[in-house]
Amino acid sequence: MKKMVILTGAGISAESGLKTFRDSGGLWENYKIEHVATPEAWLKDKNLVLQFYNERRAQVLAVQPNQAHEALAKLESKYDLHIITQNVDDLHERAGSSKVMHLHGEVLKMRSEKNSQQIVGVPNGVISLGDLAPDGGQYRPDIVWFGEEVPLMESASAIVAQADEVWVIGCSLQVYPAAGLVRHARDHVKVIYIDPNAVKVNGPNITVIKEKAGSVVPAMVEEYLNNG
Ligand code: OAD
Repeated sequence: MKKMVILTGAGISAESGLKTFRDSGGLWENYKIEHVATPEAWLKDKNLVLQFYNERRAQVLAVQPNQAHEALAKLESKYDLHIITQNVDDLHERAGSSKVMHLHGEVLKMRSEKNSQQIVGVPNGVISLGDLAPDGGQYRPDIVWFGEEVPLMESASAIVAQADEVWVIGCSLQVYPAAGLVRHARDHVKVIYIDPNAVKVNGPNITVIKEKAGSVVPAMVEEYLNNG
């Protein structure tokens, strides 16, 4: 089976109604990263950080996968498909994709601030100050914050290095190390980058499609299922 690796970012969930981070009107226009998405922010004001992610979680729970998520799930019938996403939502899973790696964590999960390994679901969608794990640590969202290591980078790079084709969908490619993943693809591998504001990416086999995911991904998937 041909191995396809799909790297996704906030842009693929935009048409479901979730805000991206860096577009005009994006999340980082209203919040400062250093106030809500760093270990220092957590130490300074846990309540603010919890509130920020409680809002994100409520929004995720209120939306549905869109046609791009759904189309990608269909590709599994013919390809060994791996999705590596920077998104913390669960829309790929809800659309039916079975191999989804969340590089930046998952907003529907939480873990003790004292132990990054014991991850559990967030009950009732809200984490409050005083919600303690069995080890006595305050529960925090299972999110990889700026300044924290991305624990799945090595596994993700290994998957990209084995890919026969790579699609990059809805990523601004500004946040490292995730943005560097595509460079792990072997030289002959075809890379297709779909983003209405795609930035320049160097590589021998890169095709850029400056369109929204929902406008092109379903048709691409049909084409790959019928002729690929
Ligand atoms: P960004 O907000 O940086 O970029 C979103 C990209 O999606 C932009 O390049 C848009 O042009 C594109 N886009 C918007 N609408 C689209 C659509 N309908 N179809 C396809 N593309 C569309 O989001 P990410 O690149 O995912 O990390 O951001 C990376 C990381 O930065 C996030 O995981 C998050 C953030 O800060 C953390 O919070 C740790």
